[in-house]
Amino acid sequence: MTALDPAVEANLQATREQRRASYLDFLRIPSISALPEHAGDIRRAADWIVAELSRIGVEHAEVSETGGHPVVYGDWLHAKGAPTVLVYCHYDVQPVDPIELWETAPFEPFIRDGRVVGRGAADDKGQLHMHLRAAEALFATRGRLPVNLKFVFEGEEESSSEHLDAWLEANRDRLAADVVVISDTGFFEGNIPAITESLRGILYTQIDVTGAPADLHSGSYGGNVENPANALARIISELKDRDGVVRVPGFYDDVVPLDAAARARLAALPFDEPAYLDRIGVPALAGEQGYSVLEREGARPTLDVNGIWGGFQGDGAKTIIPSHAHAKVSMRLVANQDPDKLFLQFRDHVLQVVPPGVRVEVTRLGAGRPSATPVDHPAVRAAGHALEATFGHAPVFIRSGGSIPVAEMLERQLGLTVVLMGFTNPDDNAHAPNESMVLANYETGIRTICLLWDMLGEHGLGELGGA
Ligand code: BES
Ligand code: MN
Ligand code: MN
Repeated sequence: MTALDPAVEANLQATREQRRASYLDFLRIPSISALPEHAGDIRRAADWIVAELSRIGVEHAEVSETGGHPVVYGDWLHAKGAPTVLVYCHYDVQPVDPIELWETAPFEPFIRDGRVVGRGAADDKGQLHMHLRAAEALFATRGRLPVNLKFVFEGEEESSSEHLDAWLEANRDRLAADVVVISDTGFFEGNIPAITESLRGILYTQIDVTGAPADLHSGSYGGNVENPANALARIISELKDRDGVVRVPGFYDDVVPLDAAARARLAALPFDEPAYLDRIGVPALAGEQGYSVLEREGARPTLDVNGIWGGFQGDGAKTIIPSHAHAKVSMRLVANQDPDKLFLQFRDHVLQVVPPGVRVEVTRLGAGRPSATPVDHPAVRAAGHALEATFGHAPVFIRSGGSIPVAEMLERQLGLTVVLMGFTNPDDNAHAPNESMVLANYETGIRTICLLWDMLGEHGLGELGGA
């Protein structure tokens, strides 16, 4: 089977308007996992998904408690002899600030220029919605699915998936599957279909520097008292060299370099550096010497300040030595870096370089491990065929710089290959104002998912090779 079943296509064409309305309804629920005041909205989103799963024919749909925001689970296991695929997406979204840069309200989605605009349109509610609609089209057309599916929809991916590892462990038996498909990644530059072959890990920390219990007059005390904001700047300047090399001792010890074949695959991608600069709007790129842009993105670790605050922020001048200063610092990790080990090395380094006269605290806020997919796995090949048949372009293999903690957890806990088949456009503004999803990616991607299930149902995972 190399083309979408015409009956499924006809169903999808007949249901386009209701599908759009449902997509926008789902985006209207402000399921922000990081903000406690939205915990009720997370529940509403979970309930919404359970109702949809049940309505379309998925069984055992339920909100499953994790200790944090819940997981939504559902399955349909009546495709005898066919593979079982575990599908993962997340229904939580990032906070919306800076709200003033949104052209319209983030949770009042709308369609413009062939895109759905709104928080979660791409990351990742839009892609979760694609999986619901793909299953719906198959059920509506045939009353059954060509494969066995187990849906796991997470509610706190954007908050480091803190409770997920334990939930997976507790639910290991009912999660048994042959392969995992995650739709939480995107296409390559120029909106070329892509399969992501690796994800970076992450270690997220906060540094708090404290001096006197209250701000001090900078005239009276300047020159005698260490300034927490200056001290923080000193610490930050010790984290990374001008040439992009992280200075935390031991940081690179466990890094596995890319092999020649993987490097060659990256070098062969149709990467247009001027177009990339133009898209992101910076005057020049900066990074480690000796590595290409795509290697720096997907195969090298790095360190960044995500936010920094302290002292006087208002208009005009106020002369103080601030009482405290803070920074959020994250590190992106590659195989085989271990966030647990790195946190200790990072904290030791910060404590080493902090100047005397202030107190410093280093807190770990979250972590996720790097992961990789064997690109010759039969399910990867099937996903490649399905993408090519529906989008008219064979997918490229990319290494994402982003992190999806569940990928490594599923590999480690269930021993499964994880296929990262996501559909977002590179200019989706994920995590930023005016997030959007190209509707053509959404619509065609639903067809890709349907076709992939058909291909796996027909050929299984054994003999898809070649072709
Ligand atoms: N969907 C992203 C991961 C991603 C980003 C994939 C870019 C491909 C390209 C995911 O929702 C995400 O944002 N993850 C966080 C990690 C987390 C621990 C908060 C990230 O990468 O910052
Ligand atoms: Mn995501
Ligand atoms: Mn995200």
